[in-house]
Amino acid sequence: MNPLADALGLYVHWPYCARICPYCDFNVYRPKGQEEALLDAILADMTDWRARTGARPLASIHFGGGTPSLMTGTQIERLITHAEALWGLDAGAEIGLEANPNNVEHYGDFIAAGINRLSVGVQSLDDAALKQLGRDHDGPLARRAIERAMAVCDRVSIDMIYARAGQTASSWEAELREILAFGAGHISPYQLTIEARTAFGRRAARGEQLDSPEDLAADLFELTHQICDAHGLAAYEISNHARTPTDQSRHNRLYWEGGDWIGVGPGAHGRIGAALEVGRQACEAKAQPKAYLDAVAQSGSGLVSLEALSASEERAERILMGMRLWDGLDLDVLQRKTGLSVDLDALTRLSGQGLVEQIGGRVRLLPAGRIFADRISGELVPDES
Ligand SMILES: C[S@@+](CC[C@H](N)C(=O)[O-])C[C@H]1O[C@@H](n2cnc3c(N)ncnc32)[C@H](O)[C@@H]1O
Ligand code: SF4
Repeated sequence: MNPLADALGLYVHWPYCARICPYCDFNVYRPKGQEEALLDAILADMTDWRARTGARPLASIHFGGGTPSLMTGTQIERLITHAEALWGLDAGAEIGLEANPNNVEHYGDFIAAGINRLSVGVQSLDDAALKQLGRDHDGPLARRAIERAMAVCDRVSIDMIYARAGQTASSWEAELREILAFGAGHISPYQLTIEARTAFGRRAARGEQLDSPEDLAADLFELTHQICDAHGLAAYEISNHARTPTDQSRHNRLYWEGGDWIGVGPGAHGRIGAALEVGRQACEAKAQPKAYLDAVAQSGSGLVSLEALSASEERAERILMGMRLWDGLDLDVLQRKTGLSVDLDALTRLSGQGLVEQIGGRVRLLPAGRIFADRISGELVPDES
């Protein structure tokens, strides 16, 4: 029994940001005064989706971006109320929002609107590092945002970016220890990724070093896990650490366990299976806010594509997602949803090498395999060429 594998979530993408960070590869835009129109379009898109999913209560709603904390409490409340009216909410549904420190004055409004989990985009506590990352907040505001989030919300997560140029193990250790001392139940420390289509990507292509060298990044990854473990925030996924199982992100866990989710808002992706007649569908909304608005105005839906995945495509996705969890991929769910299994020769070989183990119907990475998570998951996907 794996409740999240059969659950339904809702992802709402709010694409606007006050400033575009030079490392960010998400679907983001500067606001152009179309916020109210976009809100109405997202509400209409949700109604259109309801016809596709049928009646299934939501296990989670996640407001991501972009910067959804640029929305007002009233706008967020309209979205939550509409979702609840269309689908209903599971008892204990997680309703999460990604909150930038600059919007700290509004955190209380978000809770009043129905948000019950805040994920604060701190990234660093160090002024120079925040400047280097092109953030529009400083260390004191980051600290105030964490304190405020924890004062108004029981479930708080903190996003950090490490393995930045010039960062040493001792400076990261001090920063991470200070973050952990706030006592939040969840932290997501991400290694800085240089994405080609960003300002950092273009600068790196010209030879600038913007992240840590590979060896140091691997050391920082190990250090992050040691320090978080020692503080009682063990990892449950490569970049996600929680104090208790209930502190884990239910919405993200739904992705990794292979549940269904609807994606609304520009560029949002979704996966819908069980309620449709054939296989799993991969869905994607129009990326540009204007194109999304036009599509919803014309057809009631913001979708640009709705594609049936073949059983083997679905299997590959489920293996790659499931193996990100430290407690591993649920083999029964994989079999039930796709009729297929992992590559059994690879499973035997990787088990023999001490990189994975099969336990309680799941296959999971052993500590020695965690640093090679991507390669190992890839090997578990049968080669069909
Ligand atoms: C899409 S962002 C939205 C959150 C919010 N707008 C913010 O910036 O705080 C979600 C998280 O992804 C992480 N992130 C985005 N781009 C990244 C990159 N290139 N490398 C590592 N982490 C990244 C950041 O930690 C960020 O908080
Ligand atoms: S990191 Fe956050 S604030 Fe910066 S551009 Fe990306 S989504 Fe916007």
